[in-house]
Amino acid sequence: MKSVVKTKIIKIDAVKPEEAYLREAAAILQQGGLVAFPTETVYGLGAAVTHPQAVQRVYSVKGRPADNPLIVHLDSYERLPLVAAAIPPAARRLAGKFWPGPLTMVLPKKATIPEEVSAGLPTVAVRVPAHPVALRLLALAGVPVAAPSANLSGRPSPTLGSHVAEDLDGLVEMILDAGPTGVGLESTVLDLTGKTPRILRPGGVTREMLEEVFGAGGVDEADPAAMESGRPLAPGMKYRHYAPKAPLYLVVGEPAKVNRYILDRLAEDEKARRKSAVLAYEEDRGYYREALFFSLGERKKPEEAAERLFSLLRACDKAGAEAIYAVAPSYTGLGRAVFNRLWKAAGGNVVEVG
Ligand code: TXA
Ligand code: MG
Repeated sequence: MKSVVKTKIIKIDAVKPEEAYLREAAAILQQGGLVAFPTETVYGLGAAVTHPQAVQRVYSVKGRPADNPLIVHLDSYERLPLVAAAIPPAARRLAGKFWPGPLTMVLPKKATIPEEVSAGLPTVAVRVPAHPVALRLLALAGVPVAAPSANLSGRPSPTLGSHVAEDLDGLVEMILDAGPTGVGLESTVLDLTGKTPRILRPGGVTREMLEEVFGAGGVDEADPAAMESGRPLAPGMKYRHYAPKAPLYLVVGEPAKVNRYILDRLAEDEKARRKSAVLAYEEDRGYYREALFFSLGERKKPEEAAERLFSLLRACDKAGAEAIYAVAPSYTGLGRAVFNRLWKAAGGNVVEVG
C-alpha cells in the first residue's frame, strides 16, 4: 500500500515513558487517528472504539479480513463494564490473577461497542496489557482502544518498533517505539461465554496456569489441526499467519530424527541451489555448522523461543531464505503457544518423523 500519511516515529522509554509523548499519542487516538504502541506481548495498532471509522481504518491499513475481530484494551479491570455486557465471576478471578497481563477474555459485548470492533459478533475480546507505555497511554486516552497486532495482515507480529515501521510507516499517524516487547507472542485468548472456559489461542498465560484457577480438566482447548478443518472459533485462527515469505516446514518428532530429516532436506536444497534456513534449538546447533541457522534458544526454555520467534521469521526473509525448516517445540506450557504460531506459519506444511 502506498504512503498516505506522515508517520511520527517516537523513541519512548519503556520503563518511565515520557509523559509529553504519551499525551500527544492520546490526543491522536481521541481525534480518531491511529497509534502503534508496545505491549508486553507484541506491538498493537490502536484506534479509539469511540471512532468506528478509525477502527475501520485499522482493517484497511493492515489488509485485515473484515470477519476477524479486534481485541479491546483497557487500563484497568474497573473499566470492564464499559465494554462487557455481563461479567461472570470467573472473569473477576482471572483478572485478579492475570491482569495486567497476556490474557484476553471473550465476553458478551456491550451494545455501545461498535460492530467494527467485534466484526459483527455478539461477543468482545478484552485485555489489560502489562506495559508501562500501554497502560499510561490507555489511561490518558480515557477510552477503550481496539488494537490488533501492528503488522500487515499475514506477516509475523512485531516485537520491535522497527518491525512496526517496516510494515506501517506512511500508513498510521504515530509509532511509539519502546524497544523489544517481553513475551514475544500474542496473548492467550480465552472464551468465557460458554459453560467451560475455552482457549481459542494459546499464549503467555498457559493452559497449566489456567488449570490452577479452574482445576485440572476445567479448561477446553481447540487443537490447531481441528481449528483448520472445523469452523474456527477465534476467527483469526483460520488464516495463514505470522508467515515469512518462504514456505516454512514444521518438523515434529524426536530431536535426533527431526535433525536427520532436516539435514536430508538441506542436502537436497543444496543440490537444487535453494537457499534454506533452519530454526532449531541451541542443543541442535552442532548439526547445522554449514547451514543458515537461527537459534530458538534452549529446548527447556520455551520463553526464549517465544521471545525471539517473530524476529527470527522476519530475519529469514531478510536473509533471502527460500525454504525454512523449524524444529517443533514440545507441546507443553508456553511451548504450546510457540508450536501454535509455527503451525500457523507452516500453513499445512507439517512433517511428522516418527
Ligand atoms: O497480545 C495480543 O493479544 C496483541 C496485543 C496488541 O494486545 N493483540 C493481538 O491482536 O494479537 P490480533 O488482532 O492480532 O489477534 C486477536 C485475536 C484474533 O485471533 C481474533 O480472531 C481473536 O483475537 N478475537 C478477537 N475478538 C474475538 C471474539 N469476540 N471472539 C473470538 N475471538 C476473538
Ligand atoms: Mg495479529
